[in-house]
Parts: sequence; C-alpha cells; structure tokens
Amino acid sequence: MSKSTTIVALAAILSIATAHPWPHKTSFTWASTRHLIAFGDSYTYVQGTHGHQNFSFIGDALNPSYTARELLSNRIVQNQTSTAEGGPNWVEYLTDCGVQPGLTNPRHCSKQLWDFAFAGADISTAFTPLHHNFTVSFVNQTEQFATYADPVLSRFIDKSRSLVAVWIGINDIGDSDDYSVDFPNFYNELQNTQFQAIEENIYRKGYKQYLFMNLPPLNRTPPNLIREAGPLPNATMVKWFDEALSRHATAFHARHPETEVMVFDSTTFLNYVLDSPGTFGVKNTTDYCAAYDQPFVDTDPAMYGCQPLEEFFWFNTGHMTSHTHEILAREVAKFLDQQ
Ligand SMILES: *[C@@H]1O[C@H](CO)[C@@H](O)[C@H](O)[C@H]1NC(C)=O
Ligand SMILES: *[C@@H]1O[C@H](CO)[C@@H](O)[C@H](O)[C@H]1NC(C)=O
Ligand SMILES: *[C@@H]1O[C@H](CO)[C@@H](O)[C@H](O)[C@H]1NC(C)=O
Ligand SMILES: *[C@@H]1O[C@H](CO)[C@@H](O)[C@H](O)[C@H]1NC(C)=O
Ligand SMILES: *[C@@H]1O[C@H](CO)[C@@H](O)[C@H](O)[C@H]1NC(C)=O
Ligand SMILES: *[C@@H]1O[C@H](CO)[C@@H](O)[C@H](O)[C@H]1NC(C)=O
Repeated sequence: MSKSTTIVALAAILSIATAHPWPHKTSFTWASTRHLIAFGDSYTYVQGTHGHQNFSFIGDALNPSYTARELLSNRIVQNQTSTAEGGPNWVEYLTDCGVQPGLTNPRHCSKQLWDFAFAGADISTAFTPLHHNFTVSFVNQTEQFATYADPVLSRFIDKSRSLVAVWIGINDIGDSDDYSVDFPNFYNELQNTQFQAIEENIYRKGYKQYLFMNLPPLNRTPPNLIREAGPLPNATMVKWFDEALSRHATAFHARHPETEVMVFDSTTFLNYVLDSPGTFGVKNTTDYCAAYDQPFVDTDPAMYGCQPLEEFFWFNTGHMTSHTHEILAREVAKFLDQQ
C-alpha cells in the first residue's frame, strides 16, 4: 500500500470508529476556535511559572486557590523538563501555544491554551489514592476551574469559540489494575464521576463544545517492573474503559443536545502508529532511551548510547515522546477540521 492510500484508509477507519450518531447542533469549527481549555494528567499538563514544578500550569492541592492576577500573569514554560514528554505535548502542538522554547503568554496565542491538567492525576480519590499529597484530581481540577479560573476567563473569552479538551483515565486504569473488581462496572463508575464533575463545574458555566480522548495503547508500553509481573492493563481493559467513555459521552450529549461532543479514538490511532511506525518517521516502538531525563539527551542522545529521541514512540515506561504527541496532534487537528 502506498503512503497516501494508507493514510486515506486510516482516515476511513477513524471516522467510522469515532463517527457519532447525532446531528451537529453547535456551530463548532476548529478554524474559528480561539480557546482550548484542558484537563487531565501528565499527558496533557503544561508547566506554568505559577505552577507546581513538573506537575502543573497553576497551583496544587495544598495551594488550590489562585487570583486573577496570578492566572493572567502566568506563562507556559517550554524546555526539556517542562512536560512529561521531553518537549511540547499534544495540546501545545494542537494550539501552537507554548511550543516555542521559553515563556508564552496564552493570551498572545491565536488559539489560547488554558491548561488545568495535573501530572499524576486520577479522576477522583473516591476510587484511587492521590499520587502525592499535592496532586489535584480531575474532579478537583474542575472545581478549581469553576471557582478560580472561569470567573476570570469569562471576562475575555468567547465560550462559543472555546473547546474543552479532556484526557483522563491513564493513571486510573494503571492504579486499579490489581483491584478485585468487575472492571467494566468499575470503569462505568469512574465515568459517572467524571461526567458529573464536567456537568457541574464546566457545562453549567456555559461551555458547550467538548473533545474527549480515549486511552493510549497502555497495553503496549515498554516493559517495566510492574508489567513483568503481569501485562496489565491489557487490551481488553483498555477497550472496556474506552467503551465506558463512549457511552457516557453519548449520554452526556443526549442530556444536552445543544452540545458538540467529540471522542477522538486515540487507542486506534496510536495502535496504528505503533503498527506502521515508518509512515510517521518512528523507528523504535518497543523500547525507550533510559537516559530520557538526563541533561542534553535531547541534543546529544549518542552521549548516552541512544538514537535520537524523536525516533522513539515511547519516552519512558509510561509516556510517549514529544514527537509522538506531535503526530497525534496533527491527526486530532484533522479530526476537528472534519467536524
Ligand atoms: C523536575 O524534573 C526534573 C527532570 O526530571 C528534575 O531534574 C527536577 O529536579 C524536578 N524538579 C522538582 C522540583 O522536582
Ligand atoms: C525549565 O524551566 C523551569 C521553570 O522556568 C526551570 O526551573 C528549569 O530549570 C528549566 N529546565 C531546563 C532544563 O532548562
Ligand atoms: C506532604 O507530603 C510531604 C512529603 O511526604 C510532607 O513532607 C509534607 O509535610 C506533606 N504536607 C502536608 C500539608 O500534608
Ligand atoms: C478537593 O477539593 C475539595 C473542595 O474544594 C477539598 O475539600 C478536598 O480536600 C480536595 N480533595 C483533594 C483530594 O484534594
Ligand atoms: C485482561 O484482563 C481482564 C481482567 O483481569 C481479563 O478478564 C481478560 O481476560 C484479560 N484479557 C486478555 C486478552 O488477556
Ligand atoms: C530501541 O531502543 C533500545 C534502547 O535504546 C535499543 O536497545 C534497541 O536496539 C532499539 N531498537 C530498534 C529497533 O531501534
């Protein structure tokens, strides 16, 4: 198959996998979207000058409040250690906000990125423990947003041109993989809690356009001590989690027909990248550079016996490289353009 037919075939698969049965009610277009408001975990967090270093754009669970002045003077940091990927991540590439090294004022971006994701977050402490005492769970990200961010952002953003992006569950499925529970039911409970938080803290504030990302292929991360003990989560668990997300996204839209609710099938797309890495300039899908967090590994990987980081799909045992995030962001942009 030629390169172009592969891509066309993939687009067809993805549009089937992610097609939604409801008609479009909002006037969503990606081209006219001016603000991306993000929630999630380390895959999505960006470093802020008022953030917890290595974990957030702004605040943490021990310092949950922030002022208008703090929010508006906050800057996105871009350097080797400012994301969990060694470089820009998917929301930065998607918005082209914060990709350049140094500091970026979100208000100066033509698509502004307001990112409340917290590295290491799970959905709620009702199901899984915090990774650290300063971790802000997804539920609490949305509460903080409603209390401290929305009143400030409301002064200058156009909510009808704002897209809420949510990528959460990566830590939940990993942290609970040894639970003695009925997983499909458990994932359903997680989604109930996730969508309740969205309803109360985001939807009620007037945000109508949503992008949900389902799970990356966590069953294919490079081996580590945990996975040597048992390859969990497995592909079936990832599928169960994704199905619960799809069901809840559909139900959320049915309750609020005026919304636009999109689910991007990260599982299918990223499995495709793992299966056809050459198409994307990726050469190593099974391993990662053990020196991924060492000084100058980005500019001189050979010093550590590694190939260039952008040739790896995986950045470490739990994260994808910045290059993989760029590949993903390009596909998400295409998906959003087609809506
Ligand atoms: C942040 O992460 C970098 C790279 O992993 C590490 O060198 C640094 O010590 C961390 N900073 C804090 C405050 O934990
Ligand atoms: C990245 O930026 C943060 C925050 O400005 C700073 O603390 C850190 O030392 C920088 N890291 C590198 C590798 O430049
Ligand atoms: C949070 O945890 C750290 C390290 O475990 C500890 O030193 C600190 O006292 C804790 N802070 C609070 C407020 O519990
Ligand atoms: C979440 O936020 C609530 C209220 O804002 C607070 O009482 C609670 O301690 C927070 N939970 C965690 C786990 O941070
Ligand atoms: C994956 O794990 C689940 C839960 O333990 C189990 O029910 C299922 O059979 C496993 N699937 C595969 C393909 O191993
Ligand atoms: C993948 O990376 C690992 C770690 O650097 C290396 O040992 C292995 O040879 C690489 N495999 C390929 C196919 O490049």
